[in-house]
Amino acid sequence: MTAPLQGIKVIDWTQVQSGPSCTQMLAWLGADVIKIERVGVGDPTRDELLDKPGLDGIYFLQLNCNKRSIELNAKTPEGKEILTKLIKSADIFVENLHPGAADELGFSWDDVHKMNPRCIYGTIKGFNEDSPYANVKAFEPVAQCAGGAAATTGWWDGEYNVPTQSGAALGDSNTGMHLLIGLLAALLQRDKTGEGCYVQQSMQDAVLNLCRIKLRDQLILDNIGVLTHLPEYPDEKFGKTVPRAGNVEGGQVLGWCYKCKGWETDPNAYVYIVLQNEAKAFAEACTALGKPEWATDPKFNTPAARQKVKPEIWKGVEEYTITRTKEEVVDILGKAGVPCGPVLGMDEIAKDQSLYKCGTLVEVDQPKRGKFVTIGCPPKLSSFTPEVKPAPLLGADTDAVLKEIGYTDADIAKFRADHVVCK
Ligand SMILES: CC(C)(COP(=O)(O)OP(=O)(O)OC[C@H]1O[C@@H](n2cnc3c(N)ncnc32)[C@H](O)[C@@H]1OP(=O)(O)O)[C@@H](O)C(=O)NCCC(=O)NCCS
Repeated sequence: MTAPLQGIKVIDWTQVQSGPSCTQMLAWLGADVIKIERVGVGDPTRDELLDKPGLDGIYFLQLNCNKRSIELNAKTPEGKEILTKLIKSADIFVENLHPGAADELGFSWDDVHKMNPRCIYGTIKGFNEDSPYANVKAFEPVAQCAGGAAATTGWWDGEYNVPTQSGAALGDSNTGMHLLIGLLAALLQRDKTGEGCYVQQSMQDAVLNLCRIKLRDQLILDNIGVLTHLPEYPDEKFGKTVPRAGNVEGGQVLGWCYKCKGWETDPNAYVYIVLQNEAKAFAEACTALGKPEWATDPKFNTPAARQKVKPEIWKGVEEYTITRTKEEVVDILGKAGVPCGPVLGMDEIAKDQSLYKCGTLVEVDQPKRGKFVTIGCPPKLSSFTPEVKPAPLLGADTDAVLKEIGYTDADIAKFRADHVVCK
């Protein structure tokens, strides 16, 4: 099995989550990813949320598998020389330092392009270069807020009517995946042009790209003043912006998250059920839910009619779900062709053997620590299955990488003495 990115060398000057999620995927697809880390410090996540003092944190491990690590002080002349040599030997250079940091150190797109015109340059920042916030540092919640996710997530009234973050890393890993698309396209383009290009991905854009349907809603609101699919506004009193929609399905089909048996003590005893618009599918769902009369009652039997009585439908469906476990509900409704899914807690997901079987969850044997669980490569290729390998210890590959670009043992000893690389 030939790895798709076999022979591609990546200089990975990224940290925390956004950049590392991208370069980990490149590594899984077969690229040689060399992670540049600050001398004696490394990626900040090595030291964050520690469950075993003295060992790299799970946060770091889950985002840096299959990479090599070199400690390098890029602020020294020798460190800059080493980084330049590495870039000259590379296909892709990726960075996500704070705005202006790489430029100040002499590794802007223009600098790198001069060093190696074939090298593709990937960069992540919170905001686009033309944004009024271009110079602002960004973490996950900043991007979720600026990209439209927080304003449209959460409850529409009561004390919890506040902008709310998603638990999914829309700002970080999602940005990494967007950058990955750009880098893979740039590699294909380089085959034709012989030249690397600049791939810039802002976290704001990556979040916004996933909020496309909320922009759709804004345009509808601007045009007709109401959003008929949001039943929480039966009086049709909308403001000027798309409101938060709780658990309403994003389109005009009727979806909701329902309580199941045990909800009083189990925070995830819920199921999501979608009632499709199409008459046959709706009738089948009504039968399965013990409400066959809805299929012929004009109050319920058209999508337009249902929009007006959503709260009543929710109540009726919940009378059914609340007496059954979420597994029972999904089993019965799933067999009846009703789109539905259990709300799964992380404790349940981590134990789900079917996810291990298909390689979604993977157990990795990490030096010093032992086994930890991570999420493997999500796309499954028929021609190649990545082997998820441990994350590197800080600076573990410094000597090997320096030798590959021509440095001798004596050079390396001097770099070490001068703190250009690790001790
Ligand atoms: C994540 C972020 C907020 C952290 O900001 P930060 O705390 O200033 O950390 P940075 O690593 O960017 O910079 C710290 C310093 O380390 C330096 N540094 C980083 N790697 C180095 C190395 N190998 N050698 C020498 N110096 C190094 C930087 O040049 C910077 O120095 P400066 O402050 O003198 O300019 C910021 O990097 C950022 O906004 N990144 C872009 C958006 C992003 O990806 N955010 C999501 C992360 S999940």
